[in-house]
Amino acid sequence: MKNNINNPNDLRNSFLNFMRDKGAVIVPSSGLLPQNDPTTLFTGSGMQPMIPYLLGEKHPSGNHVANVQKCLRTGDIDIVGDNSHLTFFEMTGRWAFGADTATYKRDQLHYIWEWQVDTLGMDPNRLYISVYQGNAAIGIGRDDVAIGIWQELFRQRGIDPVVEPEPWKYGASRGGKIFLYDENENWWSRAGKPDNMPVGEPGGPDSEMFFDFNPSGDPLDHPATETPRFLEIGNNVFMSHKKTDNGFVALPKPNIDYGGGLERIAAAVNGDADIYLTAFFTSPITKLEQLTGRTYDSAQKEFRVILDHTRAATFLINDGALPANIDAGYVTRRLMRRAVRMGYKLGLTSLFLSQLSEIFIDESTAYPELTRQKSDILAVITKEEQQFQRTLHRGELEIKRHLEREGQVTGADAFYFYETFGFPQELTSEMLREQGSEIIAPEGFTAAMQQHSDSSRTAALGKFKGGLADHGEKTTALHTATHLMLAGMRRILGDHVHQKGSNITAERARFDFSHPEKLTEDQKRAIENYVNDAINADAEMTVSDMQKTLAKEQGVEGSFWEKYPDTVKIYTFKDASGHIWSQELCGGPHATRSSDLRSFGTFKIRKEESTAAGVRRVKVTLD
Ligand code: ALA
Repeated sequence: MKNNINNPNDLRNSFLNFMRDKGAVIVPSSGLLPQNDPTTLFTGSGMQPMIPYLLGEKHPSGNHVANVQKCLRTGDIDIVGDNSHLTFFEMTGRWAFGADTATYKRDQLHYIWEWQVDTLGMDPNRLYISVYQGNAAIGIGRDDVAIGIWQELFRQRGIDPVVEPEPWKYGASRGGKIFLYDENENWWSRAGKPDNMPVGEPGGPDSEMFFDFNPSGDPLDHPATETPRFLEIGNNVFMSHKKTDNGFVALPKPNIDYGGGLERIAAAVNGDADIYLTAFFTSPITKLEQLTGRTYDSAQKEFRVILDHTRAATFLINDGALPANIDAGYVTRRLMRRAVRMGYKLGLTSLFLSQLSEIFIDESTAYPELTRQKSDILAVITKEEQQFQRTLHRGELEIKRHLEREGQVTGADAFYFYETFGFPQELTSEMLREQGSEIIAPEGFTAAMQQHSDSSRTAALGKFKGGLADHGEKTTALHTATHLMLAGMRRILGDHVHQKGSNITAERARFDFSHPEKLTEDQKRAIENYVNDAINADAEMTVSDMQKTLAKEQGVEGSFWEKYPDTVKIYTFKDASGHIWSQELCGGPHATRSSDLRSFGTFKIRKEESTAAGVRRVKVTLD
C-alpha cells in the first residue's frame, strides 16, 4: 500500500483530486431518492442522475465530470451479512459525454489504472480484467481496442497479458489476465442486457476490473465464476450504441460511464476481502463491540447487518425516506427492524441504533447535509427503534408460545402476528429459519391480508390510504405472477418443476422450485417472456371447485396437496382465444385478470440461486 489510506475521506479525495487533475469537473452527489425519475425508487448507480447527459443534453459543468455518488441497492438485502455486499454504498464515477471516438477508451482505462495502481498502490498482479467478446447477431464486434490498451498496461508492469477467449467453454481459467465474455457479463445499460433495452436507449459493452483476494486459490477460478475470491472493483462502460428498430447503431459520439464501489476499492487497497474491515466501519465496530461485549469476529453476520442497515437508514432518513409502510420509507423501516432484531439476538435490549448512527454522521464529513440534520435524524431513529423494540419483545414471546402449542406457524398465523402485534412477516420467516423451519402454506398470509383489507376497507381507506391496502394489492399481483411463472417454468424447463416454497412482500416474490441446475440466461428470459405475454394476453381468472383426487388425476399443478381439504379450488387463467396460461390449486387471493398486473410494471427475474439440493430459488419483481 503506497498511500496508506486511513480514512474514507482520504480515499474519496484521492479519487476526486486525481480526476480533477485529469480535467474532470467534480460534481456533487445527488440524493438517494431520484428526482424526476419515476422508474426507480432509489439512486442505485452514479450514472442514474447522468442519463439526460448520456442522451445528448449538455451538462452544465461540461463534457468531463466525476463524483462520488451515494447509492442504495435493495436487490442484495438478503445477502448482506457476507463479506462484500452492502445496501448503501458510495460509487466513484467518471463520465465523458460525447467523447472523441479515437481516444475515449484509452483515456478511461489509463486513468483508472493510474489511480488504482500508481496512486493507491494496488498490486497489478492481482488485477483481472473482463472485456466484451462481441456478438455477430447484434452487429457489435469483440472489443479489440480495450484488449490492446489493457495488454499494454500489463506489459508495462512486466506482466504477461494472456487473453482467454473462451473460459466458459473450458469451464475454467487457463492462466489468463484478460477474459472475454458475452453480454451477460460485459454489457451495461440502465435497462439491462441488449434484449431488454427499449428502442432509443443508450448502452454498450463494458470492461470490468476485478481484484484477486486469494492468489493461492484454485487456479481454475476466473472472474465470472461465482467465487468470493474475485471482487469487481470497477466497471468501465463504453456507452457507444443506441438501440433502434433495426438493431444497434453506433452513437455519433460515444460516452464513458465508469463506476467503482468505494468500499470495495478500500478492501482491495487493504488486501482483505472483508469490506467491513475498511476504515468505513472501524469506529462503529468498536462501538458495537463495547455495547454487546462481543467481538466482531464472534458475530460477523449480525455485526455486518447492523452496520450496513444502520448506515443505510441514516442516509435514507437524511434524504427524506422516513420510516413508513410504503415505498422508500418501507425500505428504511425494514432495514431498521432487521438491525434491531440482530441487536436483540446479540443481547441488546436497550436502544442502540442512534448511537451507531451518530458515529456514521460524525464521520461522514463529506456529506455535510447529514451533520446539518443530525438531531432530526437521531430523533427519528430513536422513536422508530423504541416502537419496534416493544413490538419485537411481545411478538417473539407470542411466536414462541404459539410454537410450543401448535408446533408450526402457518401463513395465516403470520398474518395474525402482523396484525395483532405489528410483527412483520419477514421477521417471522427469519425467526423460523434460524430454527431450521419455515412458514407453512405461506400464501395464507396474503389471503388473510386481503380478507382483512376488504373487511376493513372503510377504516383502511381513511387510515392506510396507499398503505396496507396497496400492500395487499401488490402482494396479490406478485402472488398471481408466481402462478403464471410456475406455469411458464413447467413449460420451459419441464414437468419436474413444482413449487417448494414462496414468500411475498410488497417489493418482491421469492419462489423456490424443484429443478436440478442453474437456469441459463435464455431460460430466465423465456420464463419472463411467458409471464409478460400472459399479462398482455388479458387472461381471465376463473375459480372452480373440484374433487382433490380428480384434480390430481387431471394433472392440475399443486404443491402441499395434503394441506388442502377434499374439495379444492382450482384457479385458471384463460384468454379470449381459449388458451390456458395457468391452472393451479391454491388458497387465493388472485388478480381477476392477468392484465391487472400490468399497472405494476414488467415481470422480471432479479436473482436465481440454489437453496438446497435440487431446489432453486428466484426473486422476482413487478416494477
Ligand atoms: N453504471 C455502471 C455500473 O453501475 C458503471 O456498473
